[in-house]
Amino acid sequence: MKSPLILGIESSCDDTSAAVIQGNTILSNIISSQKVHQKYGGVVPELASRAHQQNIVPVIQAALQDAKVKQNELNAIAFTIGPGLLGSLLVGASFAKSLSMSLDIPLISVNHMQAHIFAHFIQDANPSPPDFPFLCLTVSGGHTQIVLVKDYDDLQVIGETRDDAAGEAFDKIGKLLGLPYPAGPQIDRLAQQGNPEKFHFTKPKVDKYDYSFSGLKTGVMNFLNRQIQKDADFVEKNLADLCASIQHTITDICLEKLFLAAKDLNIRNLALAGGVSANSDLRNKLKSKELENYKVYIPKFEYTTDNAAMIAMVGKIKFEQNDFAQLNAKSQARFKL
Ligand code: KG4
Ligand code: ZN
Repeated sequence: MKSPLILGIESSCDDTSAAVIQGNTILSNIISSQKVHQKYGGVVPELASRAHQQNIVPVIQAALQDAKVKQNELNAIAFTIGPGLLGSLLVGASFAKSLSMSLDIPLISVNHMQAHIFAHFIQDANPSPPDFPFLCLTVSGGHTQIVLVKDYDDLQVIGETRDDAAGEAFDKIGKLLGLPYPAGPQIDRLAQQGNPEKFHFTKPKVDKYDYSFSGLKTGVMNFLNRQIQKDADFVEKNLADLCASIQHTITDICLEKLFLAAKDLNIRNLALAGGVSANSDLRNKLKSKELENYKVYIPKFEYTTDNAAMIAMVGKIKFEQNDFAQLNAKSQARFKL
């Protein structure tokens, strides 16, 4: 029997995305990133849901066209039910529900954080998918968590941030440096020319595998204010070194906890997920762990940032388990794994 064709829809934050999967193979993955938020220095929820409404029909049409699949050939619709911005989630959910009803095919609800993790199982994401059990560090603009993954339906969050996410730390600190939103990729680029040991920032002391980034942001802000009083051009003159030092601090914080958990739980398979996994310093530091006999999994870039391919991937797993959603499934801004 042919594997089912599943349409995935993602609309939890500021990317409208649709993808078609068959088996573990992605046939299309269209992502429309909203530019409207750039001038506000962060995502504006009301503008995000409006943009999703404008984008969703053309994005889904493009995904079907790219996959060379007709609507009536689809076997199920998977959509993000949470966590995320409620107004944004509702746009994707309403569309998915209407389409599943009109085509009379099953509906599958997907947890966005689970999807980031299972993006690793997309056929061309990695040379081979991670073996269970593995630890996945999901680092994005909205989340920072370490998840112990023992099986498809056995996931345990063993550590998470108590305040800002790692991507948020990059973005907020970047804003202090005068960089446009999202600042993460710019800091990464500027850091290539800088000295990561030039400036030292205090790392937070948080229990076990949990994280905190808000203290670092305040620390950088106070440091910059003191330096600017002495020299108004301090940031401009030291931009590359500041970026390199800040990046080095954030990636060390991220990985120290992951490595501690790996050692305590004796897990050799380490995976990275979420938009911040694009960061070159984070990737290089994690990759170097391979020298210590760890297996490291970093999926292709297009599957690390928000995308519907990962939603379709979980859709496929749930389809096989006959785990379907009802039409009254409720979107949830806070949705635990
Ligand atoms: O997963 P994602 O696309 O969306 C969320 O769910 O948040 O992640 C976006 C985040 C932003 O905070 C952005 O600054 C960060 O990922 N990011 C990076 C890099 N590329 C994206 N942070 C550091 N270095 C990068 N190269
Ligand atoms: Zn995400």
